[in-house]
Amino acid sequence: MRRFILYSRTGQTAPFVGSLMDAGRLDIVYQCIFTSMFASHAIRRDTEFHAFLYGAPIPPVHVAVDGKTLHDVRIDENTWRSILNNLLAGKDHPGISSKKEGIEGFSKDLSETYVLSEKGDPIEELKFSSPSFFVGDNVGLPKKFEDLLLKNGAKKVSIGQERYLAASTIDIVNYILDKKRI
Ligand SMILES: C[S@@+](CC[C@H](N)C(=O)[O-])C[C@H]1O[C@@H](n2cnc3c(N)ncnc32)[C@H](O)[C@@H]1O
Repeated sequence: MRRFILYSRTGQTAPFVGSLMDAGRLDIVYQCIFTSMFASHAIRRDTEFHAFLYGAPIPPVHVAVDGKTLHDVRIDENTWRSILNNLLAGKDHPGISSKKEGIEGFSKDLSETYVLSEKGDPIEELKFSSPSFFVGDNVGLPKKFEDLLLKNGAKKVSIGQERYLAASTIDIVNYILDKKRI
């Protein structure tokens, strides 16, 4: 099982009218769902994605996508704009749910946790069983939260020295884990 967890500092927490980008960079949430949950013509059934939204007006909101039960979805941005808007209006979708929960409470029960950072150990050198990966948005993980994860036993892991988009990072991690057959 793989789990990706995105900290979205600005993702809007109520229904919105404009684009995902204008709704506090919810486009990053969509892009990370896209690379976490989909292969070609397939949903990654062994994968979970979680986004924690800390934007206005009622943060935090926890959006969870579970590959085991996810269905009735396409991969285009309009589909996900509508799903995310419905979620924020209180309507769930098969395999997708939202609730009022902060990332600290959720994280404390996880084991085998990793902080994705270009300053971490090379991912190729690590062994994984059922990993949970934390990824930052366009600004990165808040330092205080990253320190808390590290204090609780998380390891920093890197996919290279370049700084990638959050969604590209997830895509590359999936590629490497697929090659390792995890
Ligand atoms: C666009 S980057 C964030 C950039 C931000 N300015 C920073 O300093 O963190 C988004 C996220 O992708 C992940 N990331 C980017 N490049 C990475 C790399 N080379 N190795 C591991 N994770 C990476 C990190 O989790 C980062 O917070």
